[in-house]
Amino acid sequence: MKFIDLDRQYREYRQEIDSAINGVLESGQFILGSTVSNLEKTLADFVGSPFAIATSSGTDGLLLALMAEGIGPGDEIITTPFTFIATAEVIMLLRARPVFVDIEPDTFNLSVEKIQEALEERRKSGGQVRGIMPVSLYGQCADMDEINDLAAKEGLFVIEDACQSFGAMYRGRRSCGLSRYGVTSFFPSKPLGCYGDGGMVFTDSSERAEKLMAMRVHGQSRRYRHDILGINGRLDAIQAAILLAKFPHFEHEIELRQQAANRYMALLSERAPAATLPVVREDRTSVFAQFTVRVPKRDDVVEFLKGREIPTAVHYPLPLHMQKVFSHLDIPEGDLPEAELAASEVLSLPMHPFIAAEEQEMIVDALADALKSCGV
Ligand SMILES: Cc1ncc(COP(=O)(O)O)c(C=O)c1O
Repeated sequence: MKFIDLDRQYREYRQEIDSAINGVLESGQFILGSTVSNLEKTLADFVGSPFAIATSSGTDGLLLALMAEGIGPGDEIITTPFTFIATAEVIMLLRARPVFVDIEPDTFNLSVEKIQEALEERRKSGGQVRGIMPVSLYGQCADMDEINDLAAKEGLFVIEDACQSFGAMYRGRRSCGLSRYGVTSFFPSKPLGCYGDGGMVFTDSSERAEKLMAMRVHGQSRRYRHDILGINGRLDAIQAAILLAKFPHFEHEIELRQQAANRYMALLSERAPAATLPVVREDRTSVFAQFTVRVPKRDDVVEFLKGREIPTAVHYPLPLHMQKVFSHLDIPEGDLPEAELAASEVLSLPMHPFIAAEEQEMIVDALADALKSCGV
């Protein structure tokens, strides 16, 4: 059994993917070019965003969005400590400061109330908050309307880290098209994944799009003319072709993920009621990039499941404010209690569109046995 079965997906669409790759090999156009532009247009239409800029990864997409806002030393960005390192890494790479705010215990996403408190605190302390970076964790958007409203009132920008939520719906709109910037990742294991690194920034204004397009090619306005500082942040054409080949199947895959999630929910509540199920708010959907439950004695449960050859993962075992790389921020343990508790309890189960009902039954039965053997 695999945690995410990419081989099965490749076997399903093999002809389309192989022929897309061969098309690029024959074209001789390997970096950017018409395949990448086609992908940008296709995904911008899907998201309902006016502009899409393909990037070399989700991380580079987040970095470029911050660079487009001119973020630098002294600036502060509010974000969550319960996410993959990339979200806060890019803030620090620009010598700005992440302001970590605690999460909601049921959705694991940023708490709007806590953002408000942090804004007040930073105002009193003379901080320079410039933007908010909510993460749409595990495939479900945070309270984006409330976050956008708060940001608009305070004159801040919002970057949705949508690296796990491409395709998710929020109040009738798609993740990535909900705020000034939406950034996603096409890392192979993501809901829409390529066969290498890749990402995309969605934005709502032509000026920002132009800036991002220049910044992803070393700030170049025309050949060997560099007006602004940039990076090598381009997507290559083979990855774009793979994504274009996979995309026609994507909405069906989202349905399959939803069906698999529903099946897990039913099985778990019947056979392993001690596991806390994921919560998806009524006004949105999750694409279940991860299917993550909470369990007591999580590390013992993981060991038991390993013995039964059930692959699991922990997203994420140590919140960012407790990582060594952020020790200079001096945030004491206990300061962000919901994130800390979540980090000790979360457990992601195998999840992908092709998971079989029998596999899910086996996983849930093993989890039930694990909980029993751990005395839960
Ligand atoms: C929440 C989050 N942010 C950022 C990233 C970075 O994306 P990438 O791996 O494409 O750089 C990821 C993916 O790994 C992620 O899950």
